[in-house]
Amino acid sequence: MTEKNGLLTVENLKVKIGDKEILKGVDLKIGPGEVHAIMGPNGTGKSTLAYALAGKSSYEVTSGSVTMEGENVLEMSPDERARKGLFLAFQYPSEVPGVTVDNFLRVAYNTIKKEELSIWEFRNLLKEKMEFLKIDESFSGRYLNEGFSGGEKKRNEILQMAVLQPKLAVLDETDSGLDIDALQIVAKGVNELLPEDSSVLVITHYQRILRYIKPDFVHVMIEGRIVETGGGELAEKLEEKGYDWLKEKYGESGKDSD
Ligand SMILES: Nc1ncnc2c1ncn2[C@@H]1O[C@H](COP(=O)(O)OP(=O)(O)OP(=O)(O)O)[C@@H](O)[C@H]1O
Ligand SMILES: [Mg+2]
Repeated sequence: MTEKNGLLTVENLKVKIGDKEILKGVDLKIGPGEVHAIMGPNGTGKSTLAYALAGKSSYEVTSGSVTMEGENVLEMSPDERARKGLFLAFQYPSEVPGVTVDNFLRVAYNTIKKEELSIWEFRNLLKEKMEFLKIDESFSGRYLNEGFSGGEKKRNEILQMAVLQPKLAVLDETDSGLDIDALQIVAKGVNELLPEDSSVLVITHYQRILRYIKPDFVHVMIEGRIVETGGGELAEKLEEKGYDWLKEKYGESGKDSD
């Protein structure tokens, strides 16, 4: 058995898209209730890691393992992963014409939680979360993401997360495109709308969101590997120094390429 206190354990994960190897051996351990952040230059594989965790089909895992509470995640379908408590906002369709936000969320909720909440029961649950996230009531009757502004989509992702109450929420650049007020509301949602022992993996380019969602660990990904791990101070150092010093230390650029 894998150790009990691990929620998610990723070991030596290698992932290919087509014939290009993107993740070159990622190691990551997330315990219950922990907040982790991954930072790193563009194109380094952060979103690839998130998609691979979600089980997106074009992402081929060539070696390594991913376990959640000791169970092999790589053998699970994307739906099974969601039922197991893994949440990735962007795994949901970006625009669904003809499906309203409240219907979409109720079906997702009932499927994942194996419950049968009625429309009225669900509306109460939804209303409370929407008030917290300062999302206008009229949103629940709108078609999912259709005509939503960038910031509204992001807020809606947090609403999905709040409704589904996952064990692990992976937020890929949820902070991009948010105005300052929205950023604080979203951060407050992450901090206060999840169960105490839920964990969060924040993928971000900016230290700003980490002022509100305090990370226990900050990881840096360079060229498909996590090369450094620290606390909040590492994010500050990156903001100040950029990534060149890490690319020199860990990247391929200095070496001969084929
Ligand atoms: N479908 C695809 N086909 C080919 N290459 C891809 C595909 N998806 C991603 N890649 C490549 O994989 C690499 C990693 O992409 P990824 O989106 O994981 O980077 P990222 O770290 O999230 O970057 P960013 O900070 O810009 O979001 C990039 O070089 C990208 O071009
Ligand atoms: Mg990305």
